Amino acid sequence: MTVAHPIERRTPAPTPWGARAAGVYTEPYAERYRAHDETARAGQAVAHLAAWLRAICDRFGRPIAVLDLGCGTGRYFHALAHVRRLVGIDVSRPMLERARRPVGDVAVPADRIALVEGDFLQHEFQPGEFDLVYSIGVLGEHSPFDEAIASRVARWLAPGGRFAFTTVHPSSPSVPRTMKRRVAERLLPAVPAPWRSGLRDRLMSGGLYADEARVREVLRLADLGPESIEPFASDVHLHVLAVARKP
Ligand SMILES: C[S@@+](CC[C@H](N)C(=O)[O-])C[C@H]1O[C@@H](n2cnc3c(N)ncnc32)[C@H](O)[C@@H]1O
Repeated sequence: MTVAHPIERRTPAPTPWGARAAGVYTEPYAERYRAHDETARAGQAVAHLAAWLRAICDRFGRPIAVLDLGCGTGRYFHALAHVRRLVGIDVSRPMLERARRPVGDVAVPADRIALVEGDFLQHEFQPGEFDLVYSIGVLGEHSPFDEAIASRVARWLAPGGRFAFTTVHPSSPSVPRTMKRRVAERLLPAVPAPWRSGLRDRLMSGGLYADEARVREVLRLADLGPESIEPFASDVHLHVLAVARKP
């Protein structure tokens, strides 16, 4: 069984987003999440995402340095291949405690895994430190998917490096169909151009949802080239799965 090194605590105080996540992912929540790790692994959604991640690793065809943004309990560590170094960052200590013993057969030796307790909106990694940065179930969901995070990731990637992530689509069945939302969706096509982008921003709830067009736009602002952007329906959300490449 993998038992990673003790967790490093580097970031002093989290941003409001980080603080919110730390407040949600408490000890009892982490315990429930871990209990779900095993059953989830047998399910279709995790299997699909694991295969997606594995295929991205395979595309490199060489040993890679990987960063998992919002790694939680390390649910996807077992999907990684060809890893020479893995860093998992998360703001929740209870989730990271579980990530020291991730589920499944993890091909990365324990001494090559570093777990960092910190807010990825604030914590700095070295420029060009990683070949792959991935984030599942975090951006455009718990923390905004916007130019700020995409630019941070772009800075941490080596040339040719990839950023793979999921977002929640604003048309996901999990997004409450409030009256305001329904009206805004109806109005959008007819709204004059100067107001359209403001209305679209509101539909994306300031980055907490992101559709394909929004993902494309944010990647362009961060100078990352889209490799693939596709919808994916899990049992909970309609997601967007995206892979982008640093030139
Ligand atoms: C739904 S869980 C996903 C965990 C893991 N990626 C998975 O797929 O099982 C979201 C995780 O993101 C972390 N998180 C959210 N915002 C964060 C931030 N700004 N900095 C660090 N971690 C964050 C939470 O603490 C939580 O562990």
